[in-house]
Amino acid sequence: MIVAPSLLSADFSKLGEEIKKVEPYADWIHLDIMDGHFVPNITIGAIVVKSIRKVTILPFDVHLMVSEPEKHYMDFVKAGADIITVHAEATHSLYRLIKEIKKHCKVGVALNPATPLSMIENVVDEIDLLLIMTVEPGFGGQKFIESMVEKVKKARKMMNGYISVDGGINAKNVKTVKKAGVDVVVAGSYIFKSKNYKKAIESLRV
Ligand code: DX5
Ligand code: ZN
Repeated sequence: MIVAPSLLSADFSKLGEEIKKVEPYADWIHLDIMDGHFVPNITIGAIVVKSIRKVTILPFDVHLMVSEPEKHYMDFVKAGADIITVHAEATHSLYRLIKEIKKHCKVGVALNPATPLSMIENVVDEIDLLLIMTVEPGFGGQKFIESMVEKVKKARKMMNGYISVDGGINAKNVKTVKKAGVDVVVAGSYIFKSKNYKKAIESLRV
């Protein structure tokens, strides 16, 4: 299992130190970009991503929870993103956007819990990663939506690239999602609200 700690639940007054603490055990760093429009919360922008880029060589998995991602993705390419994931619900030109992002880095598409897999059925062969939201996006620390396990199983039959799940992941449900076909788990509060980051990350490596 690829483990991607989400900085959303880290201490934002010392992001560099938080990254350093997870770096020896993590595979990717997951960055949640929220605009207060696509989701109700506002987090960080490309300026912060660029400044923490200097801290680690781990891949930056940038999750854009923003409206009109076509207007913003390039800032994150320039800031050093390795994977840029956009929400299928946030754009009217998903195919074009995927093609554009692919010119610069790896590309992912995210689906909210209520969004059916049919949204990406015609682009699955174009993407590197499918991110299945296992909570409604916007906040850390929410409860994993069990019915998303079936969605993962269906998605696994549709695509060969990475399947990632994001929201409410912990040591209890990681085995279930692994069995369903998940390659990458994103975990925020489970890691950053724990006393021992190393132990928390290792418990997700099933
Ligand atoms: C939620 C974000 C997640 C969030 C997950 O909208 O996309 O990446 O950090 O947090 P936990 O693991 O606490 O559910
Ligand atoms: Zn995320």
